[in-house]
Amino acid sequence: MEIDLIASSLINNSSGDFNSLFHKADIIRKDHVGDEIHLRGLIEISNICRRNCLYCGIRSENMNVQRYRLTEDEILSSAAKAVEFRYGSVVLQAGEDSGIKADWMANIVKQIKNMGLAVTLSLGERDDADYLLWREAGADRYLLRFETSNPKLFNAIHPPLPNREPVDRIEILKKLRSMGYEIGSGVMIGIPGQSYTDLARDIDLFRTIPLDMIGCGPYLPHPQTPLGNPDTYEKHHLPVLDPKDQVSATVDMALKVIALARITCPNANIPCTTAVATIDAKEGRKHGLMCGANVVMPNLTPIKYRKMYEIYPNKAATYLTAEETHESVMQTLRELGRIPSTGRGDSRAMMERKEK
Ligand code: 5AD
Repeated sequence: MEIDLIASSLINNSSGDFNSLFHKADIIRKDHVGDEIHLRGLIEISNICRRNCLYCGIRSENMNVQRYRLTEDEILSSAAKAVEFRYGSVVLQAGEDSGIKADWMANIVKQIKNMGLAVTLSLGERDDADYLLWREAGADRYLLRFETSNPKLFNAIHPPLPNREPVDRIEILKKLRSMGYEIGSGVMIGIPGQSYTDLARDIDLFRTIPLDMIGCGPYLPHPQTPLGNPDTYEKHHLPVLDPKDQVSATVDMALKVIALARITCPNANIPCTTAVATIDAKEGRKHGLMCGANVVMPNLTPIKYRKMYEIYPNKAATYLTAEETHESVMQTLRELGRIPSTGRGDSRAMMERKEK
Protein backbone atom coordinates (compact mmCIF):
# COMPACT_ATOMS: atom_id res chain seq x y z
CA MET A 1 0.00 0.00 0.00
CA GLU A 2 1.41 3.38 -1.03
CA ILE A 3 2.08 5.99 1.66
CA ASP A 4 -0.35 8.40 -0.05
CA LEU A 5 -3.07 5.79 0.01
CA ILE A 6 -2.42 5.05 3.69
CA ALA A 7 -2.62 8.79 4.43
CA SER A 8 -5.89 9.18 2.55
CA SER A 9 -7.41 6.18 4.37
CA LEU A 10 -6.48 7.87 7.64
CA ILE A 11 -8.05 11.17 6.68
CA ASN A 12 -11.17 9.81 5.02
CA ASN A 13 -14.10 10.15 7.35
CA SER A 14 -17.09 8.77 5.52
CA SER A 15 -18.53 5.94 7.55
CA GLY A 16 -18.89 3.59 4.56
CA ASP A 17 -15.17 3.64 3.81
CA PHE A 18 -14.50 3.36 7.46
CA ASN A 19 -16.49 0.17 7.86
CA SER A 20 -15.06 -1.40 4.75
CA LEU A 21 -11.52 -0.72 6.01
CA PHE A 22 -12.34 -2.41 9.32
CA HIS A 23 -14.03 -5.31 7.59
CA LYS A 24 -11.10 -5.85 5.25
CA ALA A 25 -8.67 -5.81 8.21
CA ASP A 26 -10.83 -8.32 10.08
CA ILE A 27 -10.86 -10.73 7.14
CA ILE A 28 -7.10 -10.46 6.72
CA ARG A 29 -6.68 -11.07 10.45
CA LYS A 30 -8.81 -14.20 10.27
CA ASP A 31 -7.00 -15.52 7.17
CA HIS A 32 -3.50 -14.91 8.44
CA VAL A 33 -3.52 -15.29 12.22
CA GLY A 34 -6.90 -16.93 12.83
CA ASP A 35 -9.40 -16.60 15.65
CA GLU A 36 -7.01 -17.27 18.50
CA ILE A 37 -6.28 -14.36 20.80
CA HIS A 38 -2.88 -14.39 22.45
CA LEU A 39 -2.80 -13.23 26.03
CA ARG A 40 0.26 -11.50 27.41
CA GLY A 41 0.23 -10.78 31.13
CA LEU A 42 1.58 -7.27 31.67
CA ILE A 43 3.75 -6.71 34.75
CA GLU A 44 4.78 -3.09 35.33
CA ILE A 45 7.94 -3.79 37.29
CA SER A 46 9.13 -0.23 37.97
CA ASN A 47 7.97 3.34 37.39
CA ILE A 48 11.41 4.80 38.06
CA CYS A 49 12.65 6.56 34.93
CA ARG A 50 15.75 8.54 34.03
CA ARG A 51 14.06 10.02 30.95
CA ASN A 52 12.00 13.14 30.65
CA CYS A 53 9.65 12.43 27.77
CA LEU A 54 7.27 15.34 27.31
CA TYR A 55 4.18 13.16 27.07
CA CYS A 56 4.73 10.63 29.82
CA GLY A 57 3.32 10.84 33.35
CA ILE A 58 6.24 8.93 34.89
CA ARG A 59 8.91 11.26 33.43
CA SER A 60 11.72 11.88 35.90
CA GLU A 61 10.78 15.51 36.56
CA ASN A 62 7.27 14.61 37.69
CA MET A 63 7.68 14.95 41.44
CA ASN A 64 4.07 13.94 42.11
CA VAL A 65 4.81 10.32 41.31
CA GLN A 66 5.48 7.90 44.13
CA ARG A 67 8.22 5.67 42.73
CA TYR A 68 8.39 1.88 43.13
CA ARG A 69 10.28 -1.13 41.87
CA LEU A 70 8.81 -4.63 42.39
CA THR A 71 10.85 -7.18 44.29
CA GLU A 72 11.87 -10.43 42.65
CA ASP A 73 9.17 -12.23 44.65
CA GLU A 74 6.50 -9.78 43.54
CA ILE A 75 7.48 -10.23 39.90
CA LEU A 76 7.52 -14.02 40.18
CA SER A 77 4.17 -14.19 41.93
CA SER A 78 2.66 -11.91 39.26
CA ALA A 79 4.08 -14.23 36.59
CA ALA A 80 2.55 -17.19 38.48
CA LYS A 81 -0.86 -15.58 37.85
CA ALA A 82 -0.16 -15.79 34.11
CA VAL A 83 0.42 -19.54 34.54
CA GLU A 84 -2.76 -19.84 36.62
CA PHE A 85 -4.82 -18.04 33.94
CA ARG A 86 -3.12 -20.13 31.23
CA TYR A 87 -1.56 -17.17 29.41
CA GLY A 88 1.40 -18.14 27.25
CA SER A 89 3.60 -15.16 28.00
CA VAL A 90 4.34 -12.16 30.16
CA VAL A 91 5.59 -8.68 29.34
CA LEU A 92 7.91 -7.08 31.88
CA GLN A 93 7.66 -3.34 31.42
CA ALA A 94 9.30 -0.43 33.26
CA GLY A 95 10.50 3.12 32.96
CA GLU A 96 14.17 3.46 32.05
CA ASP A 97 15.28 2.45 35.52
CA SER A 98 19.06 2.28 35.96
CA GLY A 99 18.41 0.44 39.22
CA ILE A 100 17.20 -2.55 37.20
CA LYS A 101 20.57 -4.26 37.11
CA ALA A 102 21.24 -6.47 34.13
CA ASP A 103 22.17 -9.56 36.22
CA TRP A 104 19.16 -9.22 38.48
CA MET A 105 16.86 -9.04 35.46
CA ALA A 106 18.59 -11.96 33.70
CA ASN A 107 18.06 -14.15 36.74
CA ILE A 108 14.35 -13.26 36.84
CA VAL A 109 14.00 -13.95 33.11
CA LYS A 110 15.49 -17.44 33.64
CA GLN A 111 13.08 -18.21 36.45
CA ILE A 112 10.04 -17.06 34.45
CA LYS A 113 11.17 -19.12 31.46
CA ASN A 114 11.34 -22.13 33.77
CA MET A 115 7.64 -21.57 34.50
CA GLY A 116 7.02 -22.31 30.81
CA LEU A 117 6.17 -18.76 29.74
CA ALA A 118 7.53 -16.76 26.83
CA VAL A 119 9.12 -13.51 28.05
CA THR A 120 8.86 -10.08 26.48
CA LEU A 121 10.93 -7.22 27.87
CA SER A 122 10.01 -3.57 27.56
CA LEU A 123 12.64 -1.77 29.58
CA GLY A 124 13.62 1.08 27.28
CA GLU A 125 16.99 1.99 25.85
CA ARG A 126 19.79 -0.04 27.43
CA ASP A 127 23.38 -1.04 26.63
CA ASP A 128 23.89 -3.75 24.02
CA ALA A 129 25.51 -5.92 26.68
CA ASP A 130 22.27 -5.88 28.70
CA TYR A 131 20.14 -6.80 25.68
CA LEU A 132 22.54 -9.67 24.93
CA LEU A 133 22.62 -10.93 28.50
CA TRP A 134 18.82 -11.00 28.67
CA ARG A 135 18.57 -12.75 25.34
CA GLU A 136 21.04 -15.39 26.59
CA ALA A 137 18.93 -15.71 29.74
CA GLY A 138 16.03 -16.67 27.47
CA ALA A 139 14.10 -13.44 26.81
CA ASP A 140 12.16 -14.01 23.60
CA ARG A 141 10.91 -10.57 22.61
CA TYR A 142 11.63 -6.88 23.08
CA LEU A 143 9.19 -3.99 22.82
CA LEU A 144 10.40 -0.47 22.12
CA ARG A 145 8.00 1.96 20.50
CA PHE A 146 9.56 4.42 18.08
CA GLU A 147 6.57 6.69 18.96
CA THR A 148 6.80 8.64 15.67
CA SER A 149 8.98 8.25 12.59
CA ASN A 150 9.35 12.04 12.32
CA PRO A 151 12.84 12.54 13.83
CA LYS A 152 12.27 16.19 14.64
CA LEU A 153 9.07 15.45 16.54
CA PHE A 154 10.62 12.40 18.22
CA ASN A 155 13.61 14.36 19.50
CA ALA A 156 11.33 17.15 20.73
CA ILE A 157 9.07 14.83 22.76
CA HIS A 158 11.82 12.39 23.79
CA PRO A 159 14.80 14.56 24.75
CA PRO A 160 18.19 12.78 24.66
CA LEU A 161 19.88 12.10 27.98
CA PRO A 162 22.12 14.97 29.14
CA ASN A 163 25.34 15.13 27.06
CA ARG A 164 24.19 12.35 24.77
CA GLU A 165 23.32 12.31 21.09
CA PRO A 166 19.72 11.73 20.00
CA VAL A 167 18.98 8.03 19.62
CA ASP A 168 17.65 6.18 16.63
CA ARG A 169 15.15 3.66 17.98
CA ILE A 170 14.73 2.06 14.57
CA GLU A 171 18.43 1.16 14.61
CA ILE A 172 18.01 -0.27 18.11
CA LEU A 173 15.09 -2.40 16.93
CA LYS A 174 17.11 -3.79 14.04
CA LYS A 175 19.96 -4.57 16.41
CA LEU A 176 17.57 -6.39 18.77
CA ARG A 177 16.33 -8.44 15.86
CA SER A 178 19.87 -9.39 14.89
CA MET A 179 20.32 -10.66 18.47
CA GLY A 180 17.42 -13.05 17.85
CA TYR A 181 14.64 -11.18 19.60
CA GLU A 182 11.18 -10.93 18.12
CA ILE A 183 10.72 -7.17 17.95
CA GLY A 184 7.75 -5.02 18.73
CA SER A 185 7.21 -1.34 18.27
CA GLY A 186 4.53 1.19 17.55
CA VAL A 187 3.48 4.78 17.86
CA MET A 188 1.17 7.12 19.68
CA ILE A 189 -1.69 8.43 17.59
CA GLY A 190 -2.46 12.14 17.70
CA ILE A 191 0.74 13.46 19.26
CA PRO A 192 0.58 17.28 19.03
CA GLY A 193 2.65 18.10 15.94
CA GLN A 194 2.03 14.72 14.23
CA SER A 195 0.67 15.04 10.69
CA TYR A 196 -1.26 12.47 8.67
CA THR A 197 1.76 12.05 6.41
CA ASP A 198 3.91 11.33 9.48
CA LEU A 199 1.44 8.69 10.63
CA ALA A 200 1.22 7.13 7.16
CA ARG A 201 5.04 6.88 7.14
CA ASP A 202 4.92 5.25 10.59
CA ILE A 203 2.56 2.57 9.28
CA ASP A 204 4.74 1.99 6.23
CA LEU A 205 7.76 1.54 8.52
CA PHE A 206 6.01 -1.25 10.44
CA ARG A 207 6.26 -3.25 7.24
CA THR A 208 9.73 -2.25 6.12
CA ILE A 209 11.55 -2.69 9.47
CA PRO A 210 9.75 -5.31 9.64
CA LEU A 211 8.00 -5.72 12.99
CA ASP A 212 6.74 -8.90 14.63
CA MET A 213 4.48 -7.00 17.03
CA ILE A 214 2.76 -3.67 16.53
CA GLY A 215 1.24 -1.77 19.46
CA CYS A 216 -0.41 1.60 18.92
CA GLY A 217 -2.73 3.73 20.96
CA PRO A 218 -4.12 7.24 21.10
CA TYR A 219 -1.99 9.92 22.72
CA LEU A 220 -3.69 10.85 26.02
CA PRO A 221 -2.66 14.16 27.61
CA HIS A 222 -1.32 13.96 31.16
CA PRO A 223 -1.76 17.23 33.07
CA GLN A 224 1.57 16.79 34.91
CA THR A 225 3.59 16.85 31.67
CA PRO A 226 4.67 19.59 29.23
CA LEU A 227 2.72 18.01 26.37
CA GLY A 228 -0.40 18.07 28.56
CA ASN A 229 -0.04 21.87 28.80
CA PRO A 230 -0.28 23.58 25.39
CA ASP A 231 1.03 26.90 26.77
CA THR A 232 4.48 25.27 27.10
CA TYR A 233 4.68 24.05 23.47
CA GLU A 234 6.68 27.01 22.21
CA LYS A 235 9.28 26.63 24.94
CA HIS A 236 9.75 22.99 23.92
CA HIS A 237 10.01 23.77 20.19
CA LEU A 238 7.01 21.65 19.33
CA PRO A 239 5.77 22.05 15.78
CA VAL A 240 2.28 23.50 15.60
CA LEU A 241 0.33 22.24 12.61
CA ASP A 242 -2.58 23.53 10.63
CA PRO A 243 -5.57 21.80 12.32
CA LYS A 244 -6.41 20.02 9.05
CA ASP A 245 -2.97 18.30 9.11
CA GLN A 246 -2.94 17.45 12.82
CA VAL A 247 -3.81 13.79 13.55
CA SER A 248 -6.69 13.56 15.99
CA ALA A 249 -6.25 11.43 19.08
CA THR A 250 -9.58 9.64 18.87
CA VAL A 251 -10.69 6.06 19.20
CA ASP A 252 -11.69 6.00 15.52
CA MET A 253 -8.23 7.10 14.45
CA ALA A 254 -6.66 4.42 16.68
CA LEU A 255 -8.93 1.77 15.13
CA LYS A 256 -7.97 2.92 11.64
CA VAL A 257 -4.29 2.58 12.53
CA ILE A 258 -4.87 -0.95 13.87
CA ALA A 259 -6.75 -1.83 10.67
CA LEU A 260 -4.05 -0.38 8.39
CA ALA A 261 -1.33 -2.10 10.43
CA ARG A 262 -3.13 -5.42 9.88
CA ILE A 263 -3.62 -4.79 6.16
CA THR A 264 0.02 -3.82 5.60
CA CYS A 265 1.48 -6.44 7.98
CA PRO A 266 -0.91 -9.41 7.78
CA ASN A 267 1.19 -11.77 9.92
CA ALA A 268 2.07 -9.44 12.77
CA ASN A 269 0.85 -9.83 16.33
CA ILE A 270 -1.20 -6.72 17.01
CA PRO A 271 -2.54 -5.97 20.49
CA CYS A 272 -5.57 -3.95 21.28
CA THR A 273 -3.68 -1.66 23.67
CA THR A 274 -4.61 -0.31 27.09
CA ALA A 275 -4.77 3.22 25.65
CA VAL A 276 -7.51 2.08 23.24
CA ALA A 277 -9.36 0.42 26.15
CA THR A 278 -8.92 3.69 28.10
CA ILE A 279 -10.27 6.11 25.52
CA ASP A 280 -13.37 3.93 25.06
CA ALA A 281 -13.77 2.07 28.34
CA LYS A 282 -16.96 0.30 27.29
CA GLU A 283 -16.15 -1.00 23.83
CA GLY A 284 -12.55 -0.08 22.99
CA ARG A 285 -11.09 -3.52 23.50
CA LYS A 286 -13.86 -5.23 21.59
CA HIS A 287 -13.67 -2.84 18.66
CA GLY A 288 -9.90 -3.20 18.44
CA LEU A 289 -10.32 -6.97 18.19
CA MET A 290 -12.90 -6.50 15.44
CA CYS A 291 -10.65 -4.46 13.17
CA GLY A 292 -7.38 -6.34 13.09
CA ALA A 293 -6.01 -6.90 16.60
CA ASN A 294 -5.25 -10.46 17.79
CA VAL A 295 -3.54 -9.88 21.14
CA VAL A 296 -4.66 -8.62 24.57
CA MET A 297 -2.34 -7.70 27.41
CA PRO A 298 -4.24 -8.09 30.70
CA ASN A 299 -2.57 -6.26 33.57
CA LEU A 300 -1.07 -8.51 36.28
CA THR A 301 0.77 -5.80 38.24
CA PRO A 302 -0.02 -6.07 41.98
CA ILE A 303 -2.96 -3.73 42.50
CA LYS A 304 -1.27 -1.51 45.09
CA TYR A 305 1.22 -0.28 42.44
CA ARG A 306 -1.20 0.24 39.58
CA LYS A 307 -2.07 3.86 40.30
CA MET A 308 1.65 4.73 40.43
CA TYR A 309 2.24 3.58 36.85
CA GLU A 310 0.19 6.43 35.50
CA ILE A 311 1.76 7.13 32.11
CA TYR A 312 -1.55 8.81 31.23
CA PRO A 313 -4.64 9.52 33.36
CA ASN A 314 -7.49 7.08 34.02
CA LYS A 315 -5.60 4.12 32.57
CA ALA A 316 -7.99 1.20 31.98
CA ALA A 317 -8.14 -1.47 34.68
CA THR A 318 -6.24 0.62 37.26
CA TYR A 319 -8.62 -0.53 39.98
CA LEU A 320 -9.38 -4.03 38.74
CA THR A 321 -7.67 -7.05 40.21
CA ALA A 322 -5.90 -9.48 37.88
CA GLU A 323 -8.85 -11.86 38.35
CA GLU A 324 -11.41 -9.18 37.42
CA THR A 325 -9.46 -8.07 34.35
CA HIS A 326 -9.03 -11.68 33.30
CA GLU A 327 -12.75 -12.34 33.61
CA SER A 328 -13.67 -9.23 31.64
CA VAL A 329 -11.24 -10.13 28.82
CA MET A 330 -12.64 -13.67 28.69
CA GLN A 331 -16.18 -12.28 28.53
CA THR A 332 -15.23 -10.06 25.56
CA LEU A 333 -13.66 -13.04 23.77
CA ARG A 334 -16.77 -15.13 24.35
CA GLU A 335 -18.96 -12.35 22.94
CA LEU A 336 -16.78 -12.17 19.85
CA GLY A 337 -16.48 -15.94 19.43
CA ARG A 338 -12.71 -15.73 19.65
CA ILE A 339 -10.53 -18.37 21.23
CA PRO A 340 -8.19 -17.61 24.13
CA SER A 341 -4.86 -19.14 23.18
CA THR A 342 -2.82 -20.94 25.81
CA GLY A 343 0.30 -21.02 23.62
CA ARG A 344 3.25 -18.66 23.41
CA GLY A 345 1.85 -16.87 20.38
CA ASP A 346 5.13 -16.75 18.52
CA SER A 347 5.51 -14.40 15.58
CA ARG A 348 4.41 -15.82 12.25
CA ALA A 349 6.32 -13.03 10.62
CA MET A 350 9.50 -14.31 12.33
CA MET A 351 8.77 -17.94 11.38
CA GLU A 352 8.36 -16.87 7.77
CA ARG A 353 11.68 -15.04 7.86
CA LYS A 354 13.37 -18.19 9.15
CA GLU A 355 11.87 -20.31 6.39
CA LYS A 356 13.23 -18.00 3.70
N1 5AD B 1 -0.54 8.84 26.06
C1 5AD B 1 -0.56 7.68 25.36
N2 5AD B 1 0.44 6.78 25.39
C2 5AD B 1 1.50 7.05 26.18
N3 5AD B 1 2.62 6.38 26.40
C3 5AD B 1 3.38 7.06 27.29
N4 5AD B 1 2.74 8.19 27.65
C4 5AD B 1 1.57 8.22 26.97
C5 5AD B 1 0.50 9.14 26.88
N5 5AD B 1 0.49 10.28 27.56
C6 5AD B 1 2.96 5.14 25.68
C7 5AD B 1 4.26 5.32 24.89
C8 5AD B 1 5.19 4.30 25.51
C9 5AD B 1 4.22 3.28 26.06
C10 5AD B 1 4.76 2.39 27.12
O1 5AD B 1 3.16 4.08 26.56
O2 5AD B 1 4.01 5.00 23.51
O3 5AD B 1 6.09 3.72 24.59
